[in-house]
Amino acid sequence: MAPTFKLVARAPKADLFVVPVFSGARLGPGAQLVDDAIDGRLAEFMQETDFDGKRGEVLAVPTSGKLTARAALLLGVGDEASFDAAALRRAGAVLAKRASRVASVATTLLDAVGSDIDPGLAAQAFAEGVCLGRYQFLRYKSEAKRSRLERVFVVSANNSAKSAKVRAGIARGARVAEAVSWARDLINEPAAAKSPADVVDLARVVARASGLKVKVFAGEQLVRARMGGVLGVGNGSDRPPRFLRLEYAPAGAKGTVAFVGKGVVFDSGGLSLKTAGGMETMKTDMSGAAAVIAAMSTLRDLDVKTRVIGYVPLVENMPSGSAMRPGDVLTMRNGKTVEVLNTDAEGRLILADALSLASEEGADAIIDLATLTGAVTMALGEKIAGLMGSDDAWITQVSDAAARAGERVWHLPLPEDYRRNLDSEIADLRNISTGGGAGTLTAGLFLKEFTADAPWAHLDIAGTARSSSEDAETSKGGTGYGVRTLVELASTFRKP
Ligand code: BES
Ligand code: MN
Ligand code: ZN
Repeated sequence: MAPTFKLVARAPKADLFVVPVFSGARLGPGAQLVDDAIDGRLAEFMQETDFDGKRGEVLAVPTSGKLTARAALLLGVGDEASFDAAALRRAGAVLAKRASRVASVATTLLDAVGSDIDPGLAAQAFAEGVCLGRYQFLRYKSEAKRSRLERVFVVSANNSAKSAKVRAGIARGARVAEAVSWARDLINEPAAAKSPADVVDLARVVARASGLKVKVFAGEQLVRARMGGVLGVGNGSDRPPRFLRLEYAPAGAKGTVAFVGKGVVFDSGGLSLKTAGGMETMKTDMSGAAAVIAAMSTLRDLDVKTRVIGYVPLVENMPSGSAMRPGDVLTMRNGKTVEVLNTDAEGRLILADALSLASEEGADAIIDLATLTGAVTMALGEKIAGLMGSDDAWITQVSDAAARAGERVWHLPLPEDYRRNLDSEIADLRNISTGGGAGTLTAGLFLKEFTADAPWAHLDIAGTARSSSEDAETSKGGTGYGVRTLVELASTFRKP
């Protein structure tokens, strides 16, 4: 369970009092109370323990009865001038991890950001950091060291106008983090427990609770909807594919945005089988789908005024006697034919149908999230997603939203002259390029064929969807990357 937050004007009784210290051991707000509680020996203590206030550094200080908390924690937050919402999100996460053995924490961290930063955004980032830093996936652990943190007192010297913003920001941050945690849970869940039909069932529960309209295509309905990509990839699995359409339609909506998410519940590669090592993490190949469903679950709570339609193709990519073969040709929803030369390039096949439908239904802009290529991890690593697309204004809108949400993206090109590497001898397109490298870009160029004229952006999240290490608000395993950006994008959407 996420902790509850309470905004207070003075340090209350709590197990732990967390105060920021800037680089150069410069004391942040509230640190004076700690110094007083140890008879003015804080500077000496920091020096002796070589604590400088660098970002992420922490120092526990045992205190006497002069402080309302039983102990204090100095939290290094780095350079004062660059302490912004993103740094606050990180600091909140570090706090949550350090406070996992206590029930209550009081902190002055929020007052450490400069006056140029919107207090609502800062409060949102802080709450996100705390909730995400506290995230654990313990479902399959028989002996779990579950976090005990329950209450966070946000100590802030405030006027009432600012407190209203801070309260709203905290609530928003906690709600967004809840959605990210939901996505993480689903991504971390073993593939055995999340067939395409299972994911649909879970999405229905979420949709009911958050006022989303649900439409599901299965079996014959997929055939009638001409979802050749979804059917082709889905053929190899005993667990049949689904196509999920979610809709959020607020009264008086100003424009429609389409969210598309790759939902491969397990990617074995199909007949172009992956290696054992290559398959180890492939239960996470539905991270785009999880991000779309999770983000949409928040829209009503956050009073978003944009209409949002989610398109989520769900398949399991398996080898079997009924699996699609290298050399087979599929006809996608928009009528284009694709020669499948590598069954492991399956994400683009199911996205082809989803993007076709999204553009047919006339969204003002489309964004897709997909764990599409190993190549994007080569280029950008685990922290930065590849952003591509067909409309500069829309791409800018996406990257601005991502920046505010604290999720890193980097704009990559879609060079038109690379398109010829996708020419097929017998069909309109082939699903892997004929040499020339740039696997991330050719995957993007492939998707572009199915977007008609709609402004479209593509996030290749193969690197960012999963983390091999715990790092502040980023959890080990499924990260829920993209939920924050999608929520921010829907909240601030303008027709490009
Ligand atoms: N799901 C994978 C991409 C992936 C790889 C995600 C590693 C996360 C970590 C995707 O379906 C895939 O297999 N892509 C192939 C494409 C290739 C066959 C053109 C790849 O990247 O190797
Ligand atoms: Mn694959
Ligand atoms: Zn895949």
